[in-house]
Amino acid sequence: MTQVSRRTVTGLATAGLSLPLLAACGDDSDTASDPGTGSGSSSGGGSTPSQAESSSGGGGGSDALASTSDIEVGGGTIFADEQVVVTQPSEGEFKAFNTTCTHQGCPVQSVSDGTINCDCHGSKFSISDGSPESGPATSPLEEVGITVEGDSIVLA
Ligand code: FES
Repeated sequence: MTQVSRRTVTGLATAGLSLPLLAACGDDSDTASDPGTGSGSSSGGGSTPSQAESSSGGGGGSDALASTSDIEVGGGTIFADEQVVVTQPSEGEFKAFNTTCTHQGCPVQSVSDGTINCDCHGSKFSISDGSPESGPATSPLEEVGITVEGDSIVLA
């Protein structure tokens, strides 16, 4: 704490007087990457990059998974990173399911002809409710909560 206030005084005094003793203290302030209190804008710029990143990220919307236009009516899209498959059984109706097949845990690989398909052993699940329509799986895919905000689909 006392170092900070000393540095402030040093910065002001150095600007005005340039005494050798104070110049030595000036090196100190360089080490702390706080070059003088006279130019507040430049020192502020040096210390805020991480804050700028987080604030710009916050402004871009929270967890938008997809745009509604990305999801085909009567089909769906798999988001492997999120382990979610989003479907649109009928126009404007969106559903989401966990991509883990309830048979033996493979990730489902595709959505076609109204079903979510696991290629490991051929299970097919309804895009409407995730229920098994064919193949060895007997349990439905786990439904995942989503909300539609404007044209964005967001994980609930
Ligand atoms: Fe999906 Fe067997 S793990 S069908």
